[in-house]
Amino acid sequence: MVDVSHTHWSTSRWVREIETRLAAGDDEQPFVNIKGEDRREFDAIFLGGGAGGRFGAAYLRAMGGRPLIIDRWPFLGGSCPHHACVPHHVFSDAAAQLLLERTFSGQLWFQDLNGKTVSILDVVEMFRRGRTGPHAFMNFQSKEQLDLEFVLGARGRILDAHTVSAAGRTFTAKDLVLATGARPQALGVAGDHLKGVFDYASLVDDLDYEPGPTAVVVGGGKTAIEYGCFFNATGRRTIVVSRHQPLPMINDGETRAYLLARMEEQGMEFCTSAELTAIEGDGQGRVRVVVIRTPAGEVRVATDFVFLGLGERPNSEEAREVLGVDVDAGGFVEVDGRMQTSVPHVYAVGDLVGAPMEMFKARKGGMYAARNIMGEDAHYQLSDYPDFMHTHYEVCWLGLGEEGARERYRNVVVLKLPPDNPDDQAVALPAGDRMMLYAMMKPHLSGFQKLVIDGTSRRILGAFHVGCGAKDGFQYLAPMVRNGLTVDEFGEMDELFLNPSYFIQLCRLRAGSKVLRDL
Ligand SMILES: Cc1cc2nc3c(=O)[nH]c(=O)nc-3n(C[C@H](O)[C@H](O)[C@H](O)COP(=O)(O)OP(=O)(O)OC[C@H]3O[C@@H](n4cnc5c(N)ncnc54)[C@H](O)[C@@H]3O)c2cc1C
Ligand SMILES: NC(=O)c1ccc[n+]([C@@H]2O[C@H](COP(=O)([O-])OP(=O)(O)OC[C@H]3O[C@@H](n4cnc5c(N)ncnc54)[C@H](OP(=O)(O)O)[C@@H]3O)[C@@H](O)[C@H]2O)c1
Repeated sequence: MVDVSHTHWSTSRWVREIETRLAAGDDEQPFVNIKGEDRREFDAIFLGGGAGGRFGAAYLRAMGGRPLIIDRWPFLGGSCPHHACVPHHVFSDAAAQLLLERTFSGQLWFQDLNGKTVSILDVVEMFRRGRTGPHAFMNFQSKEQLDLEFVLGARGRILDAHTVSAAGRTFTAKDLVLATGARPQALGVAGDHLKGVFDYASLVDDLDYEPGPTAVVVGGGKTAIEYGCFFNATGRRTIVVSRHQPLPMINDGETRAYLLARMEEQGMEFCTSAELTAIEGDGQGRVRVVVIRTPAGEVRVATDFVFLGLGERPNSEEAREVLGVDVDAGGFVEVDGRMQTSVPHVYAVGDLVGAPMEMFKARKGGMYAARNIMGEDAHYQLSDYPDFMHTHYEVCWLGLGEEGARERYRNVVVLKLPPDNPDDQAVALPAGDRMMLYAMMKPHLSGFQKLVIDGTSRRILGAFHVGCGAKDGFQYLAPMVRNGLTVDEFGEMDELFLNPSYFIQLCRLRAGSKVLRDL
């Protein structure tokens, strides 16, 4: 055990310490930051210091309580910076950059990437070298600025609703917050353990060779498509195998179709209504061939690189066995709006409690658990939330898609760019930030955007954006739409022209008309 309670390590010092601990790969030397002089009982133990645990503990501390975080990793922040959001953004940034480079290969100042493959291993290694920085910052911030107590680098074992053991010690608290997250779902077919089969975590932890010319991706959700677009952008043949149509979460058919068409244009191959039934090895423990069952029959594909994006399994086993918390059919811990489980004094937050598995929900769940532990009666009501993902583009959406709106409203009006004009590939709209080269030289690649409006009440029902740079705006647009934003109010806003989404000016163009019409 390393008692860090009286140290004041800089972020750089934390980088060195965490890297040493990760390289040693043991949990014999946990970092313990507990104020021996503080005799108060802990208000809550947060088991897991990821998004849910760390933000929950910080909120509880800010309210004057005393939290303790226990995490098996030697850093705070959890899977987001280590395995999930951060590497995903690195790969998606690389995919967007490579799309630009490939589209304009040999033109202007762009190198000629035609026929060339970019190293996946180099990008993964670059991420591995950089990822300790965010970890270190979170240790520094949590200790020096947020005044949080923690035991890091030690698996916690639940003893009862108030007690957890870790690092050879036993800790008690008034309440327990389960924030142990989730792990990638396995495929469960012959050969899925072979070298060359990866998920989002093992890709960044274990990749130690340069994948060959063909990548096979299984799944049709965000993870599969985001990583698939990256592999494709590196120049590899990329085959996406999915049981259903990909990207069902994008609830506007036109937006989804635009995306899928652009991916196909980049050479992505979609094998839908299909299942990967076996992975065959080369006799040395490495993947050589995958077998895919398609509606047209069985297909065999030679590859040394398979990526699984199959969703998540909750880390709920111990809580279920020791505490008896209620879980749903998928093993996700059931909670009420107060984030309280079926067991008194036990709360649960984050991916452990199921979809949507996004950072905002984990962090807010932690905050609501903290408020209730500190005596408030606070209920987290998950309302319509903005969503996003990456393909080669950044894609954002919120509210109702056109189909859903037409089912519920009689007078649906759509404002969009580019307008319907299937024969004309030369419409240079939308033309926003980071899309200007496409707008001038390859207009049909410059993105897509759409507002769905109830023409009677004039309220915005949904918004969709494919391109770049609209994500920040969607965070603030969501509550305004929830609160009844109208086309007229939208048209009153001040745009920073050129801007990525064009929504304000499109609304202004129509706001003058008593009877709203499509645009
Ligand atoms: C590929 C991918 C990309 C993603 N990208 C995004 C994105 O761009 N934006 C977004 O909003 N969301 C994204 N997500 C979702 C996001 O990563 C999760 O919703 C979020 O990390 C969940 O936080 P959490 O606190 O519930 O779990 P985690 O962050 O996983 O934290 C759980 C913690 O519990 C610890 N733990 C578990 N068991 C024990 C134990 N017994 N003892 C001690 N410690 C334990 C773990 O070490 C871990 O630190 C992505 C997910 C994936 C898979
Ligand atoms: N915000 C972001 O940018 C971001 C990025 C990545 C991930 N995430 C979050 O992280 C979580 C995990 O993402 P995800 O994309 O992995 O999960 P997901 O959305 O649950 O999608 C899982 C996919 O895997 C398929 N699948 C599951 N089991 C399968 C099997 N045995 N064989 C074949 N296909 C199978 C599913 O197909 P079926 O439809 O046929 O079941 C589905 O297409 C999600 O909650 C997601 O929102 C967020």
